[in-house]
Amino acid sequence: MKSVGIIGVGAYVPENVVSNLDLETSVATSDQWIRSRTGIEERRIASEEEDTSHMAVIAARRALDDASLHPEDIDLILVATATPDYVFPTVACMVQEALGIRHIPAMDLSAACSGFVYALVTGKQFIETNTYKNVLVVGSEKFSKIVDWSDRNTCVLFGDGAGAVVLSEVSDGKGILSFELGADGTGGKHLFVDNQTNYVAMNGSEVFKFAVRQMPDSCLQVIKKAGLSKEDVDFLVPHQANIRIIDAARQRLGLDKEKVSTTVTKHGNTSAASIPLALFSEIEKGSINDGDIVVIVGFGGGLTWGSVCLKW
Ligand code: ACO
Repeated sequence: MKSVGIIGVGAYVPENVVSNLDLETSVATSDQWIRSRTGIEERRIASEEEDTSHMAVIAARRALDDASLHPEDIDLILVATATPDYVFPTVACMVQEALGIRHIPAMDLSAACSGFVYALVTGKQFIETNTYKNVLVVGSEKFSKIVDWSDRNTCVLFGDGAGAVVLSEVSDGKGILSFELGADGTGGKHLFVDNQTNYVAMNGSEVFKFAVRQMPDSCLQVIKKAGLSKEDVDFLVPHQANIRIIDAARQRLGLDKEKVSTTVTKHGNTSAASIPLALFSEIEKGSINDGDIVVIVGFGGGLTWGSVCLKW
């Protein structure tokens, strides 16, 4: 069977930085509370012109450049998002138009913060079965538009941004070695967008407990499926929601701090964009190198989760 790997990565965050101190002026919170409970120091918040598709297109262009491909080389566009510009047309169709690509298939995929991992695994299937050659997978979110900025329980947690990757056939034992996806609809009530208000509603402690249990469990499963042990893992890119959740997962996997991405400090929780954004930041920093074993893990509303183990 074909090996499928990531051959290009790109990202985009809005310029506008909103610090914890900025939030102190609008809700009853403090920099100290936010840092100690979540690890978040600041987040990027998009302007009116920067909707989800706008950020997705820039991240996609950068991923294509990184892969040394032209838009016309892409055969399928998948966009993971919970905050599309419209119910339809999808963000994926808007990306297709902006990139000026021929009439290839394009669709959005919704699995909240796990959306990017779901999209990655979906794209891999099409390449493995020889249906498509190059698949563009984007995670893009303008979460700020579904956040109640007067609710301190949620507004301090989220940010906006986009990340994108290009999937293609790779060789030398590289690429995605294993994956695991899951969902538990009984937990849907703990994290949802309220139909009346259109704002995120969350039972923080229930989501916290779920994430602390499910993230490491899912990682251990993909490591085992890949025929590896946790000592083989060179780097972990978890969904960036809360540094305490990331730390709990890191400890269960026995990884040193420098082997785990913690971009949540600068970006907050960017939902489906958080993993590709973190991946991009870590590649830029030089934390992920040729031949490394990398584990990617997401969790989110649904409740949903998913992991991928790959050789970089
Ligand atoms: N500033 C100050 N106080 C606050 C704030 C704030 N921003 N937010 C809540 N509080 C108060 C609450 O009112 C409550 O006060 P009370 O005890 O007087 O009622 C208290 O702080 C809550 O404290 P804890 O329960 O100890 O808070 P906890 O340590 O659980 O942290 C948090 C809360 C950060 C929300 C945590 O539960 C968490 O991160 N949960 C996971 C959330 C998450 O990851 N969501 C996204 C999932 S991904 C997706 O699909 C979108």
